[in-house]
Amino acid sequence: MTKDILVLGIETSCDETAVAIVKNGWEILSNVVASQIESHKRFGGVVPEIASRHHVEQITIVLEEALKEANVTFADLDAIAVTEGPGLVGALLIGVHAAKAVAFAHNIPLVGVHHIAGHIYANRLVTELAFPLLSLVVSGGHTELVYMKEHGSFEVIGETRDDAAGEAYDKVARTLSLPYPGGPHIDRLAHEGKPILDLPRAWLEPDSYDFSFSGLKSAVINTVHNAAQRGETIAPEDLAASFQESVVDVLVMKTVRAAEEYKVKQVLLAGGVAANKGLRTRLEEAFAQIQGIELIIPPLSLCTDNAAMIAAAGTIAYEKGKRATLSLNANPGLDIDQ
Ligand code: KG4
Ligand code: ZN
Repeated sequence: MTKDILVLGIETSCDETAVAIVKNGWEILSNVVASQIESHKRFGGVVPEIASRHHVEQITIVLEEALKEANVTFADLDAIAVTEGPGLVGALLIGVHAAKAVAFAHNIPLVGVHHIAGHIYANRLVTELAFPLLSLVVSGGHTELVYMKEHGSFEVIGETRDDAAGEAYDKVARTLSLPYPGGPHIDRLAHEGKPILDLPRAWLEPDSYDFSFSGLKSAVINTVHNAAQRGETIAPEDLAASFQESVVDVLVMKTVRAAEEYKVKQVLLAGGVAANKGLRTRLEEAFAQIQGIELIIPPLSLCTDNAAMIAAAGTIAYEKGKRATLSLNANPGLDIDQ
């Protein structure tokens, strides 16, 4: 019988202070998330300085809660995994310092994790991964198609050339005076409206797996402003439905084409926008038609930022022998294929 591996994950790259303990890379023993959304709402977005201060206040409390909930002590842990980037530098630093302090004080191996690798590995908390696989990563800061031939190997085959999908959602929501973060509000409205407005879809070059959402975002803003100048109003639910259809059309089409071209066994959905009901439904419909490719979609709580996903990705890195030293630093521009 092989020994269980217990990894404690820490995630502070944006506006969630999160600590989790995961057994053998897939079994969640605890997953504590302290969200700061309420503090940033009145500014319409994340204020980096406020985020860092909240992380400082929360990290020890969340850490203790995660250990207590999992009923483990530091002595039981095999590794500490922490998000080292990308993200807000001041926010990342709090997690990295907390991880280094614990690793040093208790003599536990330390592993640095890429935030997007974490989002992808949220899927391993759902089911075992089968390679090769393709992951559609859609978050507030990233829109990427990532090909993986094996554990821990990430090849970005397409990415956004301008705005990330979540960013476009948040900006369109702002135009419609919806609260931050706007994605869930647009998603909800979209289901109440009809996609009757003609909005652009950026397919780019025929063979490209890249994305572009800034043209669509501008088209939505112009549509709202032009209508206002004419003294007309556009039903926000129809605008939300039309915008969502444009985004989802492109995401689903490119994911299906890449999955078939790369002959993958699984397609994983990852990142905060993976919580989008329209996207989940359309992907399910598309992959129901394709034999031999399994679609995996994590539950909502594992789509948005959390530390269980960091512990899951960290476990693989730990098993592969990856170790960070106490000189580990926050790296806001870290590449996933580095
Ligand atoms: O992955 P995440 O929690 O943080 C980043 O790493 O960026 O993603 C946050 C993003 C926000 O832009 C938020 O508006 C979006 O995910 N989001 C959604 C939905 N839920 C969250 N976007 C569309 N539909 C949703 N239901
Ligand atoms: Zn994220």
